[in-house]
This record gives sequence, C-alpha cells and structure tokens, in this order.
Amino acid sequence: MIDSWPTSARLWHRTKASLPGGVSTGMRGSMRPHPLFFRGGRGSTLTDVDGNNYLDYVLGWGPVILGHGHPGLTEAVTRRLPLGATFGAGHELEYLAAEAVLEAVPGAERVLWSNTGSEADQIALRLARAATGRNRFVKMTGHYHGWSDAFLLGYRPDAEGRLDKPATKGQNSGALSDVSMATWGDLDSAAAILREPAQDIAAVFVEPVLCNSGVIAPPDGYLAGLRALCDETGTLLVFDEVITGFRLARGGAAELYGVRPDLVVLAKALAGGYPVAAVAGRADVLDQSTRGVVHAGTYNGNPVVLAAVQATIEALSEPGVYPAFEDHGRRLADGLRGALDRYDVTAAVNQAGPVVQVLPGLDRCDTFAQFLAGDQEWYDALTVELLRRGVFALPGGRWYLSTAHTRADVDTTVQAFGEAVAATVAVTGPPRAALCDGSVAG
Ligand SMILES: Cc1ncc(COP(=O)(O)O)c(C=O)c1O
Repeated sequence: MIDSWPTSARLWHRTKASLPGGVSTGMRGSMRPHPLFFRGGRGSTLTDVDGNNYLDYVLGWGPVILGHGHPGLTEAVTRRLPLGATFGAGHELEYLAAEAVLEAVPGAERVLWSNTGSEADQIALRLARAATGRNRFVKMTGHYHGWSDAFLLGYRPDAEGRLDKPATKGQNSGALSDVSMATWGDLDSAAAILREPAQDIAAVFVEPVLCNSGVIAPPDGYLAGLRALCDETGTLLVFDEVITGFRLARGGAAELYGVRPDLVVLAKALAGGYPVAAVAGRADVLDQSTRGVVHAGTYNGNPVVLAAVQATIEALSEPGVYPAFEDHGRRLADGLRGALDRYDVTAAVNQAGPVVQVLPGLDRCDTFAQFLAGDQEWYDALTVELLRRGVFALPGGRWYLSTAHTRADVDTTVQAFGEAVAATVAVTGPPRAALCDGSVAG
C-alpha cells in the first residue's frame, strides 16, 4: 500500500516555480492528492518517480490506446526520427496515413491534418460555415469540443447552475451569440432549433457517445434522427470522435451506429499518444481549403506523428482488437458494479467498448442532467484510495482501456477497486447524489 508520494510532491513544488500550478494543462491540477510525476510506462503499467507501479486507466487522458511503449509504434517513430523533424513540405506519409484513415472511417473522402482536437474542431466549424454560408452552430450541453472560445460553452454549469454563460475568464463573450444549445438525446430539442424558419445554423456538433459527461450512449435512432434533421434543413452533421474514433470501432461511432456524418473530428487514439488530429469527411466540404477557407499550421502533417498514425492504425487493424476491447470493457464494468454492490454503494457504471464511467450516487445515468447529480467529491476521494492500491484513474470517473490491458489486469483492478471503495466509505461515508430536479438552467 502506498502512503505518500514524496518525490512527486517535491518535483511538483519545484515545477510550480516555472509552470503555473505546476502542471501543463489546468485539468491535471485537479488530480488528488496532488499531481504525480512519472518515470515511464510499459504496456498497461506506469511507474512514478517514487518507484510505485500502477495499472494505468488514464492512458494520457485517452490517446495511449496501444499501451505504453508499444513496440510497433515505437519502432515506426524511431525509424522516422533521424530523417528530420518536419519539412514544411510534402512527404509520403501524408497520403499513406490519410489513406489509412479514409479506409477506416465510413464515407470519408478527404483528410485534413491538424495537431490537436481543439484545432481540428475549429477548422471543422469554419468549413461548415463556408459550405453553408451560415454562421451559428448547435452544441449539445455537456459535450466538449476543446478549449477554444467558440466551443467552450455549455459544458459545465457555473456556480448558479447556468450553462449559458462564458465558461472561463478571458473568453470572448460574443462567442455565446453564435451557439444554440440543445439537449443530448432529445431529438425535439434539436428539431426546434433546426426547423426555426430564420435559423442560421451551419452545423450540429456532437460527441456521438457522450464520453465527456458520463459515457452516455445515444438513444436508439437518435443519431440517425439528427442525420435526417440535418439533411432536411441543409445543415452539416459533425461527429466529434476525438474520444470515440478508432476506439469504439475502427471506424468509430460512425461505423458502430451506421450513421454517416459530413465531417468527423479525430485525435487521441489516432496516433497512440503522439500529438495529431484530423478532420475527415466529404470531399466537397474539405476541398474548400483550396478555395478560400484558410487551414494553416506549421506542424500539420508532421512526418513523425504521421508515422505514429500509420503504425497505430496498423496495430488497431489486427484481428480481435475490438472484440477484446468489448470483452475487457464489459469485464471491468461488471467487476466495478459487483464491487460497488458488495459494499452497498449506489453508483451507476456506464460502458462503451473500452471506455467505462463510474457515477457515484446515481442509480443510472442516461442524461447530462443525471450526470451532474453524481457525487464528484466522493469519487475524487476514491481515486486517492485507488492510487494507494496501484490503480491510476482519472478524476471525473472515466476509465480507458488499451490493447495492452489483459483480463488479469482487469481482475487485479477490480480487487483493488473493491478495497478502495471500502476504504472510501470508511472515511467519508457512502456517495450522495446532489438534489437535482433533472433540469439545468440555460
Ligand atoms: C470530444 C473531444 N473533442 C475535442 C477535444 C479537444 O482535444 P485536444 O485536447 O486534443 O485539444 C477533446 C479532449 O479531450 C474531446 O474529448
């Protein structure tokens, strides 16, 4: 059992002198008891600077889908490195990696390379505006499309429970006027906006499975319903598959649900941990980047990360990868439910392939409003007890599995999870759902 993390604590204090909060993204600052520092990883395991080993369900907040130090991926990147970092000009991996994406993503005809999901969402929005000659877009409350001013809206309620306010200090408050918020899973809510006669909506953006707020699958027929509404109203449908792409299926949620969006945004699992993103989709929409739509980026199509894309897609194309994800995801979700039951703890567990979400205090979670009622503080206390027992899990309740995780890893984790639940209950009592009437303002 791990009691404390003295070297991590020391390094974190030192880092605070050079990085605000001692972290490279603010979200990492939410880690309890404090941000940890790591030496390296192998497969499903990470080792911290104090020498502790963890089964890793953070996986770099999602990208490390092949586990740490995957041999094929490492070899592909290492082979490229001596040839130079970037050319600012064409090279063969641009089309080879793009062809691999096009082969996987249903209906996609072109790819634009970018560096992060936040950037790729922005070019997707610009392309949709140019294609339709419209300005506004529909965003679902609780969905996350990166940290840009345009998209960081309606994600988490503020202290007054409002979702229709800027999400951060320093945000352009004018961004709000370009967005119409809809409720995830409620077709009428999207229809009311899209069928408004004077609507000026270029695109509907969705996470096709709401991974950022509860791992909530779309209700039956919902994505097809959105597709039909978009067709009826001349609006583009954009699937933000930054989490679901190459994870729920090789062709992401578009393949899993048999619905073809106009554009798909990809990142995270696309390159096994290397920084790259892409927009894939209709040729007539993406080719606008040759006809007046600016798409720029010094590092776009960088050969090192495209070597990573090619190697990652190759590894994910091995037979049995997605059935194993489903098997391990289900085993983990079932195991966590069993452990919670054993200690009489009310918590829902959602699962979509290799993504699992624990929702303390809730009997079930099918909506964003329900998600908000979960007991986050209890879960944060649980993550510390998990760390003590060698399990590294994200704050917020989401768990990612990689191809490197074995059934034995899952079983070990379930055992540790049960002990962590018991310890958390002993210290803080059981989780409590917030008093929530199922509605959120805005
Ligand atoms: C669905 C979704 N879209 C966009 C993003 C932003 O991607 P990035 O962090 O690479 O900018 C994320 C990040 O978690 C995401 O989950």
